[in-house]
Amino acid sequence: MNNLYSRLKNFLLIGAYKAIVTFEKIFNKGVVLDFLTKDFINNPYKTYNSMRAHKPILFSQTTRLHWVTKMEFAQEMLRDKRFSVDDRKYPIANKRRKEFKKAGREIMLDQFENPSMLKLDPPDHSRIRKLVQYGFTNRYITSLEPEIKKVVDSCLDRVHNQNSFDLIEDLAKPLPAIVIAKMMGLPNEDLDQFQAWSEDLLVGVGGIGTSKEDIKKSGDAYEALISYFEKIILTRKDSPGDDFIGKLIQAEEEGDKLNIKEMYGTCLLLLIAGHETTTRLIGNGMFTLFNHHDQMSHLIKNFELIPNAIEEMLRYEPPVHATVRFAENDMVYNNKSYKRGTPFAVSIAGANRDPEANENPNEFNIFRDNIKHISFGYGPHMCIGASLARIESRIAFESIFERFKQLELIDKNPVWGRNLIFRGFENLPIKLS
Ligand code: HEM
Repeated sequence: MNNLYSRLKNFLLIGAYKAIVTFEKIFNKGVVLDFLTKDFINNPYKTYNSMRAHKPILFSQTTRLHWVTKMEFAQEMLRDKRFSVDDRKYPIANKRRKEFKKAGREIMLDQFENPSMLKLDPPDHSRIRKLVQYGFTNRYITSLEPEIKKVVDSCLDRVHNQNSFDLIEDLAKPLPAIVIAKMMGLPNEDLDQFQAWSEDLLVGVGGIGTSKEDIKKSGDAYEALISYFEKIILTRKDSPGDDFIGKLIQAEEEGDKLNIKEMYGTCLLLLIAGHETTTRLIGNGMFTLFNHHDQMSHLIKNFELIPNAIEEMLRYEPPVHATVRFAENDMVYNNKSYKRGTPFAVSIAGANRDPEANENPNEFNIFRDNIKHISFGYGPHMCIGASLARIESRIAFESIFERFKQLELIDKNPVWGRNLIFRGFENLPIKLS
């Protein structure tokens, strides 16, 4: 009976979705964010380009969000105090609180009320960011290079004599996870478990056509991760140590710097942001190179170009496609009125392809000068781990090209994940010869 009910519900939901798409197509002269189609999943940029050309800030009925695809506006929204990240302040918060209560998600509700810095406006944002930044100084991150190289080498040693390897499973996933776990002082033996939890968690964030089961899986993973950090932090209170978690424990004990729940949120944010994104940068970047053979051959002979190529990969196939901001108060922006709490989807992917920001933006070109992208965000929330991600991916590409002279993509059309926020592959098998 339950099964029949949920099939009927799905049928009705898809029918309603299709009706909205048809209506929107008529209303917006053919422009629509139809995120369920294969075309969109394979090439969302075409849609973002048409949205920008129609209206740089376009309300999409399918997502109930105002999408911002023009670089100038995207940067302004990420930088300007009139746009906020703290969803607790707006009417949407009550809906979320009710959802958490109804689902019996006490831990999630607790964390919603005590979010990580990613979801905080000043002054709380600046208070926590300052603490976290101590763990990400350029000097410290650069000092990790030999350690990162060792991790890459050990991943590649394992596949060295094989005919093929999976770039995602064998290198792009473990590398950033091992590095962030080391920085945070998490036990190595927990690696598989927290990687599984973070993958499950992301299914519920920006997933396309997310099912009830996926939402449950994501909530379970979220709560398991918070409980995991709670246990780690409590057992380490007496001897905090010198790693990232140790420093947070000391900061919490000094008082008024961050509370214990903010600490859990910070650990969760670092763990997820610290590896899920870099995995996608390496995977998306390598796939793009395979589709631009001449540039790949040039790169293999000219390693000094790798850093610029990575910036172009970030611009062209960003791991994070969008982020959300809310109108802090009733406001007029670009000659249009918005109510307090209006949510905007700042389209990183769309802004990166704005022809006013980059010439021939739909062309992948590792030789491009002055690459303009917001793939690490912009303004006060700009990514804290950008230099770490750049170093990890540079060493990954250098090491692969050093070791393997002939590389060939086994599946020329790998399946992109179905997610509006995170873009990447589950697997990317590569033939070695
Ligand atoms: C290619 C890899 C990465 C990409 C594409 C990426 C992307 C981003 C983006 C777009 C934001 C801004 C979100 C917003 O404004 O709403 C952000 C923030 C953040 N990222 Fe990353 N990230 C990457 C790697 C990392 C790594 C390796 C770490 C840590 C080890 C990290 C930690 C953070 C943190 C803590 C924030 C929040 C900053 C704040 O709210 O002030 N990221 N990242």
